[in-house]
Amino acid sequence: MTAQRQLKVGILGATGTVGQRFIKLLAQHPYMRTHVLGASARSAGHKYIDVVKWKQVTRVPQEVAQMVVEECVVNERWKQCDVVFSGLAEGDAGEIEASFRAAELPVFSNAKNHRRDPSTPLIVPLVNPSHLSVIPHQQAQHNLKKGFIVTNANCSTTGIVVPLKALEGAFGPLDCIVVTTMQAISGAGYPGVASFDIFDNVVPYIGSEEEKMEWETSKILGGVLPGEKGFDLHAESPLKISAACNRVPVLEGHTECVSVSFKRRPPPSPEQVKQALREFMCEAQSLGCPSAPKQAIVVHEEVDRPQPRLDRDDQDGAGVNVGRVRNCGVFDIKFVVLSNNVAIGAATSSIINAEIAHAKGMI
Ligand SMILES: NC(=O)c1ccc[n+]([C@@H]2O[C@H](COP(=O)([O-])OP(=O)(O)OC[C@H]3O[C@@H](n4cnc5c(N)ncnc54)[C@H](OP(=O)(O)O)[C@@H]3O)[C@@H](O)[C@H]2O)c1
Repeated sequence: MTAQRQLKVGILGATGTVGQRFIKLLAQHPYMRTHVLGASARSAGHKYIDVVKWKQVTRVPQEVAQMVVEECVVNERWKQCDVVFSGLAEGDAGEIEASFRAAELPVFSNAKNHRRDPSTPLIVPLVNPSHLSVIPHQQAQHNLKKGFIVTNANCSTTGIVVPLKALEGAFGPLDCIVVTTMQAISGAGYPGVASFDIFDNVVPYIGSEEEKMEWETSKILGGVLPGEKGFDLHAESPLKISAACNRVPVLEGHTECVSVSFKRRPPPSPEQVKQALREFMCEAQSLGCPSAPKQAIVVHEEVDRPQPRLDRDDQDGAGVNVGRVRNCGVFDIKFVVLSNNVAIGAATSSIINAEIAHAKGMI
């Protein structure tokens, strides 16, 4: 058996909440190795261990602890990377990621900046990896051969699109979706929401989150333009979706209450919905991506599950948990989704997206 080629990985925003998760996951990865770490000018020039406020339950991996953090500026070391992951805060992420793409590097981003670009795929790896087909169009637009940007979705969008995709596949087009989120504090990065504001409290507002959930869901579940020429973001989506987003005093794991109606009449029963969710398989699984969950959607029968503290680390947070599937008095079906916002909601998504691109020969 021939040994698999090891991919050199660079991490932009390596000191942050998402960046730390990248480092933790890559320490166990079968063929990706952390090669360079980037953060702001405040951290650059210092050893990683001296500047990171490490918040993971495992120690900083030895091979990373003594690495000197670089500025997020393309240099010879960055150019040696096969893949660049970005956990950059949204402020400068757009320009920095574009400069790495211009240096012919494949960039997999968690930031919002390029998500709405009509030639940039917005990919939840358990849902729409087929959208990677627009990469040649993006490269042609920027006159590039190898460089590109792929974004993954907002953490709360990611949780819902996985079961929605499974339901659409099994029962045909969805009509209306109403979702109410209870989102963890870590979703706001570190230090995030002040303890004074979130302890003993619920904050019924997360800036621009509701709009993101609404348009991102349409882009992810929608198609690409003929000839794989990107996305028409002005076309009216056939899917009607309304989101209400709340911050709650949970450290990790976004819980979302979803009500759905289907175009088809009669709609599926709760038992049929549960079966379709359990049977849902995605391309990341069939391609054998090492970070893909064994079970994309875990369906709970217990009346009081899923719960963030009990279910967020199942399968290392790479899958999505669904429970309380039942009839809805206004829509057709309602259920609860729990997904790990820093795993499948962020770093794990980027890593599986890169594994899929690698399996398809794009990196
Ligand atoms: N947290 C989540 O659950 C989650 C989920 C999905 C997507 N996202 C998105 O992922 C991104 C990262 O989120 P996060 O929660 O990890 O944020 P975070 O904890 O605030 O970390 C931000 C990172 O960006 C670096 N940075 C800040 N300004 C910079 C600059 N001007 N140049 C270079 N590096 C800079 C920081 O470095 P220093 O340490 O040196 O300041 C740090 O490494 C955001 O765009 C966020 O919206 C987050």
